[in-house]
Amino acid sequence: MTDIEGRALVRTRLQVDGEAADLLCDARVTLLDGLRDHLGNTGPKKGCDHGQCGACTVHVGGRPVLACLTLLASAADQEVSTVRSLAANGELSELQEAFRTHDAFQCGYCTPGQLMSAAAAVGRADLESDEDIREFMSGNLCRCAAYPNIVTAIREVRKGRTGA
Ligand code: FES
Ligand code: FES
Repeated sequence: MTDIEGRALVRTRLQVDGEAADLLCDARVTLLDGLRDHLGNTGPKKGCDHGQCGACTVHVGGRPVLACLTLLASAADQEVSTVRSLAANGELSELQEAFRTHDAFQCGYCTPGQLMSAAAAVGRADLESDEDIREFMSGNLCRCAAYPNIVTAIREVRKGRTGA
């Protein structure tokens, strides 16, 4: 199938934050543009659009990915989770509360991506030190330099879950 300008269209069915989505888009549409422009989910942010800042981080099949470097079609039949999935019933998650408690953001533009990478970090048994956490989070840039507080928030949640 093509659009009126002859561009190939691809149907993609997936789950986004627990809800079914069905999109018919140009085959070159990225997951980030699919979420933001076609589904109106502005949780993931477009910073660089070149895989360099991490603001667009979402989970696909439970693993963090850069949505600006991922084709929408490649997420077909998978569960995509954005920052909107973290708060249940309007209640901030433990991780979001830790970010708030420890001032882990200022302008907040990077925060959706930081939170999705952090959500993956708190579930990793191999991140034992602050240096390990910093390395894991190194793909998420913060122009406000909230890095120390982000690590503190992640460490606190990890400690609560693992005792480490
Ligand atoms: Fe995707 Fe910057 S917007 S890495
Ligand atoms: Fe402003 Fe990170 S809080 S860019």
